[in-house]
Amino acid sequence: MIEAGSATRVVGAIAELRALLAERRAGGASVALVPTMGALHDGHLALVRRASELADVVVVSIFVNPLQFGPGEDLDRYPRTLDADVAALEGLQVDVVFAPTVAEMYPSGPTSTRVVAGEVGALYEGASRPGHFDGMLTVVAKLFHIVQPDVACFGQKDAQQVFLVSSMVRDLDVPLSIEVVPTVREADGLALSSRNRYLSADDRRAALALSEALRAADAAAAQGVDEVLAEAEAAFGAHEAVQPDYLVVVDPATFLPVESGATGDAIVLVAARVGSTRLIDNARIRLG
Ligand code: PAF
Repeated sequence: MIEAGSATRVVGAIAELRALLAERRAGGASVALVPTMGALHDGHLALVRRASELADVVVVSIFVNPLQFGPGEDLDRYPRTLDADVAALEGLQVDVVFAPTVAEMYPSGPTSTRVVAGEVGALYEGASRPGHFDGMLTVVAKLFHIVQPDVACFGQKDAQQVFLVSSMVRDLDVPLSIEVVPTVREADGLALSSRNRYLSADDRRAALALSEALRAADAAAAQGVDEVLAEAEAAFGAHEAVQPDYLVVVDPATFLPVESGATGDAIVLVAARVGSTRLIDNARIRLG
């Protein structure tokens, strides 16, 4: 049995995890899930801290989900650092690290049943990474069924992912709440990401183009969406090593691009390849 405050248990088997959680739930405990792919950084730890404020039992899943990687993407080189991840969580009142193998999650190979992300799932990240969001939603749905959490914590850094997971929970009446935790940044503005470790020193400097574009967007917000895009594009294009992918201003309610002349809350999304690394970032702005 796991006790609050005891050392973190690392569990690979779904049946064992279910048995542990059933015991805690029988004693009245609520459960929070923090789904991750490991290579944990301070952004993940902020999710874990928030989870421990919201529930009695915290489960962190660590699983590099093959379904959400396309051909030619970084599935093979994606960092797998389980020992360091468990060590990073030790001081944080995490009850269980659920770290299944691919065979445990997909015993018959990639599932033929998928959650389909729909129109928004084909835009922005989905346009550059076809099938990514179907694969992401499918594993998140599996994790929700396995853990049956009361609350699940996701980072605002992956804004489109948050929108799609929240839509799935609403559309399919999944009985849990989604908690969105603000992006954690380096002092110079770079959003924390497990992929930052791929960046060379030059790429690391160039990667500031993303957060600089967001700052420029915010500064221009009162002048409307056309000015936001012009200013953010200028900042985005200023670094030679950066190949912009998209820069778009979306309506938080629909995640579709806002019309010229729109006012009120909006989200600016940016994505770029910096060297061989694809990075994304976003910021909320208020259009005047
Ligand atoms: O954001 C991530 O790390 C992944 O997309 C998630 C939510 C853990 C699903 O694999």
